[in-house]
Amino acid sequence: MRRLYSHEGHPSDHELTLREYLDVPRPRPAGRPWVELCMVASLDGSTVVDHNSRALSNPTDQALLLTLRSLVDVVLVGAGTVRKEGYGPPKTPNLRVAVVSRSADFDFSLPLWTCGRVLLVLPEDAPEVPVPSVRAGVGELDLARAVSLIDADVVQAEGGATLNGALAAADLIDELNLTLSPQMTGGDGPRLTVGTPPVRHRMRLAHVLEDDGFLFTRYVREH
Ligand SMILES: NC(=O)c1ccc[n+]([C@@H]2O[C@H](COP(=O)([O-])OP(=O)(O)OC[C@H]3O[C@@H](n4cnc5c(N)ncnc54)[C@H](OP(=O)(O)O)[C@@H]3O)[C@@H](O)[C@H]2O)c1
Repeated sequence: MRRLYSHEGHPSDHELTLREYLDVPRPRPAGRPWVELCMVASLDGSTVVDHNSRALSNPTDQALLLTLRSLVDVVLVGAGTVRKEGYGPPKTPNLRVAVVSRSADFDFSLPLWTCGRVLLVLPEDAPEVPVPSVRAGVGELDLARAVSLIDADVVQAEGGATLNGALAAADLIDELNLTLSPQMTGGDGPRLTVGTPPVRHRMRLAHVLEDDGFLFTRYVREH
């Protein structure tokens, strides 16, 4: 892995480890955790190939995801991604998983739901569930309020596009770790966000790393 750009002022003769690049201050914004979004996309903007993101990734991208998980308190993920990517109990010690849903329609006998480190993020009037829940909004989930109720300093959002769209609409994305996978994939897979009204949220480039043609970018929200 090599560094193409870093805004952080690291000396250019010293290559850092992935962890050193990623273990940066993430100050808690007023009233809620810092939200960092980690995603991989194809050159033509798709986040899905054959129903999941595996074909877009490479070992360094996997290492980046796991390194980031080791630096956060909670992974926030949409119900669609949990179902399609088969999320299990977190392997990272002390990490909790917060699953965003409206329906609360899950097979609660699966290991993710019995591991004791999962919670649901739901509208107040969603069905009762056998795991802890954070609830906000009636009918529609009030995502900003729900995120503010999550007991964490740093939250890593991991998609998918529907959840990302809701996070973007509420201007909750403080940081984006976007891997650009060196392939055109065609198809009609979703881009990074779907369902968001037009927004213009300026992000500052913090670094670009490269491995095997993959670009690992980190952007931070500018206010
Ligand atoms: N390339 C990548 O880095 C990456 C990362 C993650 C996922 N993915 C891929 O993305 C696909 C899934 O994306 P997706 O957009 O279909 O699903 P998603 O965002 O993971 O989940 C959508 C579901 O989450 C719940 N949800 C999301 N936002 C909500 C909100 N604001 N209020 C209430 N509920 C909300 C709803 O759950 P209920 O249906 O339970 O009500 C909704 O149906 C999968 O194929 C996955 O492999 C790619």
